[in-house]
Amino acid sequence: MSLKTTSYHLIDHMLSKDIFSDNGLLLLSQGTKLDAADITMLLNRQIVEIEVYDEVHSVSKKVTTQIKDLWAHNDYELKDHYLYCLDTIKGLFQQSVNDKICPLSDFMETYSPLLERTLEYSFLFHPLHKIKGHDEYTYRHSINVGLLSGVIGKILGLSKNEQYLLGQMGLLHDIGKLRVHDDILNKPGNLSQEEFDAIKLHTVYGYEILKKMEGVSELIYEGALYHHERLDGSGYPYRLKEGEIPFMIQILSVADTYDAICSDRIYKLKSSPYYAANELMQGIYKGNFNPEIVVPFVRYLANSSVGDQALLDNGKSGEIVYIFPEEPHRPLIKVENEYLDLRVERHIQIVDIASSN
Ligand SMILES: [Fe+2]
Repeated sequence: MSLKTTSYHLIDHMLSKDIFSDNGLLLLSQGTKLDAADITMLLNRQIVEIEVYDEVHSVSKKVTTQIKDLWAHNDYELKDHYLYCLDTIKGLFQQSVNDKICPLSDFMETYSPLLERTLEYSFLFHPLHKIKGHDEYTYRHSINVGLLSGVIGKILGLSKNEQYLLGQMGLLHDIGKLRVHDDILNKPGNLSQEEFDAIKLHTVYGYEILKKMEGVSELIYEGALYHHERLDGSGYPYRLKEGEIPFMIQILSVADTYDAICSDRIYKLKSSPYYAANELMQGIYKGNFNPEIVVPFVRYLANSSVGDQALLDNGKSGEIVYIFPEEPHRPLIKVENEYLDLRVERHIQIVDIASSN
């Protein structure tokens, strides 16, 4: 887009590519929202051709409005990034399923800045689960699971490359859902066995699509195929067991489950992150999930809620004051002048959290 003819209209648009000076110095990075000073600076440097993101056009109004309200308390411009990403990823998913499979690099061009930002500042994913309603669920879920998988990798001390790969695995793990009929995916009531079998096939469809995608590595297409497998052999499609499921895919399954519990679906309302943490811990006891992944993740979630108000299922509320490392989902809570140890009071559940900031 030429700056000379349209400079005024480009204010508030977001750069879709980094801009470098003649001698290779980074002037403005991808994701920068242009203001008048940026445009003047570019014109002064005789840079007249820039690329900005198109207007978001495919995302439902309900979701767009809510995303614009997220991350209200920081200036990372993540809301625009997330929105552009949602719009683009939706298009790429649909194109890849319908006519031609887009290369991984097309997906990552938009997704990388969002992923890298979130890997740098993990707390940025926290507001994602405030979005209400099930509009655009498959696409939001894909983006979120990538971010969450990467963050869990970071919490576990995996390398930067592994965190990034987890992001890619998460982004693409459910792409096969686009081959499952909408009537089944969006059915509000209970599924028949036949319908459930049809949904299970999204793992195989995803594998088939990703196997043909340019630039994709083994763990990405295996992630699509195995993300519903469980360590005790209770998952699908192959009922694999612990030693047969790669550790990276075990992380993907935890992120997938967490995001699904914390999101509204057509057949259920979302639950709080504490409820999800509790479910993941139950998943360890049942033999579904790996404690080496779940406990550090839940500990991280719980630690970030210290100081917040917990609403309890006995109608009372209190401040979360201490997280016990071995049972991070059962914290110490100060209710009025008393301390309640949820490791002891096991019948009490946290229903919701009200953030202190
Ligand atoms: Fe899935």
